[in-house]
Amino acid sequence: MKTRLLTLFCMAAATLLIRTTDSARAADEQYVSSETCMACHEDYFDSYQKNRHSIAADPRTPEAQMGCESCHGPGSEHVDADGEGGILSLKADSADGPVVNNAACLQCHSKGGQALWHGSEHEGRSLSCTSCHSTHKNNAQNLAYASQEETCRQCHKPVRAELMRQSHHPIREGKMRCSDCHNAHGTIADKLVDAQSVNTKCFECHADLRGPFLWEHPPVVEACLSCHTPHGSSRNALLNAKTPYLCQRCHSNASHPGGLGARSSADAGESVYRVLNNRVFYRDCLNCHVAIHGTNHPSGKSLVR
Ligand code: HEC
Ligand code: HEC
Ligand code: HEC
Ligand code: HEC
Ligand code: HEC
Ligand code: HEC
Ligand code: HEC
Ligand code: HEC
Ligand code: HEC
Ligand code: HEC
Repeated sequence: MKTRLLTLFCMAAATLLIRTTDSARAADEQYVSSETCMACHEDYFDSYQKNRHSIAADPRTPEAQMGCESCHGPGSEHVDADGEGGILSLKADSADGPVVNNAACLQCHSKGGQALWHGSEHEGRSLSCTSCHSTHKNNAQNLAYASQEETCRQCHKPVRAELMRQSHHPIREGKMRCSDCHNAHGTIADKLVDAQSVNTKCFECHADLRGPFLWEHPPVVEACLSCHTPHGSSRNALLNAKTPYLCQRCHSNASHPGGLGARSSADAGESVYRVLNNRVFYRDCLNCHVAIHGTNHPSGKSLVR
């Protein structure tokens, strides 16, 4: 709550700051039109012409408004000084900083997918829109790098390493993208997961596991991530631990399985090896507990059918 309030306060202060700079600028700066810019920046003019932003027929675009200066701000001072300063560069590393950079984009993109930008993890870590976007590149979504994965990889190398593991969501095969699960601009859920919760996200594609089942396995209903990891794992099926250890994190019941050393009265006379064999052999606990996500079988209480 405190951080939220602080964020709101900072936003208000920043808006005020921008307003003041804006009006200070407006007082002596004039809009000079895109044609003036073209005289010295033909290459940027060309790249912009291929961009969604340059569609004049759409009244919401920069082209239908102030052209280049919709984003870069009024350019008279810059032109008078033969290109020495006096203009917003909008680059992620510019001295203007992310608040000023982002305001240029947010004037048109503060709704829809960007509605939760304020207070998001990425805003909080001082990213600019242009850390990921380059409006003079004309690939899908004007991304700053060749693809989405390439863009995210600039800063999230560990995730990339996870994706190289044996079991992984098919992102490097090009069948999925980071944005199938994340909205980089901000979300209601933690970790930029683009859904009400992690489980609702998983059910979007794994709907067969949604239930309700006659016999549920409580951790499945509560959190897929109590057994799975989202990006990649060196065990099978994206598991975050190997069976039987995975199961033993929660099941230490003495009557049956949990503890590998446990023997029931029915085991009297059997060798320890033989008793344990079927629990640590082949698929371990899953040899018998095949319906690990829940089942509708009338006698499936113990998730064995
Ligand atoms: C008289 C020539 C001239 C005109 C007209 C001109 N520029 Fe520039 N501009 C330059 C020069 C020279 C530079 C600095 C050299 C460079 O980095 O390319 C520059 C740099 C820039 C930069 C980078 C600033 C930075 O801090 O990195 C932007 C953005 C820019 N111009 C946008 C515009 C826009 C928008 C217009 C029209 C409003 C415009 N320019 C008109 C000559 C001009
Ligand atoms: C004057 C308004 C305006 C400004 C300023 C503006 N945009 Fe846009 N932008 C638009 C419109 C309109 C579209 C087309 C949206 C649509 O079709 O729904 C668009 C589309 C986009 C797209 C999608 C491109 C695609 O290929 O689908 C991206 C990404 C984008 N803008 C990023 C930015 C960034 C980053 C900035 C700041 C540097 C910015 N925009 C500044 C109006 C603006
Ligand atoms: C951390 C990287 C990142 C940052 C920072 C970022 N974006 Fe995006 N943006 C993306 C990705 C990835 C997509 C493509 C999403 C997709 O294809 O579903 C996208 C798509 C968009 C789109 C087009 C689709 C839509 O949601 O309407 C717009 C517009 C946009 N971004 C604007 C912005 C603005 C404005 C900012 C700054 C406030 C910003 N972005 C900051 C990564 C980023
Ligand atoms: C939708 C917003 C937007 C519009 C419209 C736009 N630009 Fe840009 N421009 C940017 C952003 C963002 C950058 C930062 C670098 C990048 O992302 O490529 C940039 C960078 C530049 C740079 C180079 C800065 C540098 O030194 O690398 C120049 C020059 C430039 N723009 C000129 C223009 C001109 C000329 C026009 C009009 C024909 C124009 N821009 C229209 C957003 C815009
Ligand atoms: C310029 C660097 C940068 C880029 C590019 C970037 N991120 Fe981030 N991202 C960060 C930082 C910094 C954090 C804050 C948490 C941290 O330190 O890991 C973060 C946090 C996150 C989080 C939440 C993690 C948490 O612990 O709350 C997710 C999810 C995420 N980014 C996804 C993405 C995706 C998807 C992309 C590509 C569309 C992307 N990021 C691109 C820098 C970046
Ligand atoms: C199948 C859905 C899914 C896909 C696809 C996905 N993620 Fe995630 N990601 C998640 C979930 C769920 C979490 C939350 C993990 C948690 O809460 O512990 C997460 C967490 C993260 C985090 C926070 C740090 C961490 O590892 O826990 C980052 C950073 C991140 N993802 C980046 C990415 C990037 C970059 C991509 C694309 C290469 C990507 N994700 C693709 C679901 C996904
Ligand atoms: C956008 C769709 C999508 C979302 C969302 C999604 N998945 Fe997947 N999942 C897939 C696809 C596609 C595969 C690969 C299926 C195949 O190869 O047959 C897969 C495979 C898996 C596998 C099996 C991996 C293996 O190596 O056998 C597990 C486990 C899994 N997902 C768990 C999750 C969890 C947990 C979540 C929520 C954090 C989730 N998925 C969200 C699409 C999705
Ligand atoms: C109690 C641990 C546990 C939880 C919680 C769990 N899973 Fe699993 N999941 C497993 C195990 C173990 C396997 C491997 C099954 C096998 O090898 O037969 C698996 C396999 C999978 C697979 C691969 C295909 C299949 O059905 O065998 C998918 C997809 C999957 N899980 C998705 C999910 C989703 C989505 C959730 C949350 C709704 C979830 N899991 C919760 C333990 C769990
Ligand atoms: C995150 C904790 C957790 C993990 C990990 C977990 N379980 Fe469970 N499991 C539970 C809880 C809680 C119950 C409900 C316990 C109860 O009703 O007494 C349960 C119930 C069960 C039941 C049904 C018990 C009954 O009521 O008859 C079986 C069988 C079972 N788990 C097997 C497994 C197996 C096999 C694994 C490993 C693949 C596993 N569990 C992993 C928490 C977990
Ligand atoms: C050879 C088949 C088999 C193997 C292997 C097996 N189980 Fe079971 N398990 C059963 C059967 C059958 C039941 C039902 C017993 C009953 O109702 O008395 C059961 C019941 C359970 C129960 C619920 C009853 C209780 O004692 O609380 C849990 C929890 C459980 N198993 C966990 C595990 C775990 C964890 C493993 C792996 C270490 C495992 N099982 C391996 C067959 C097996």
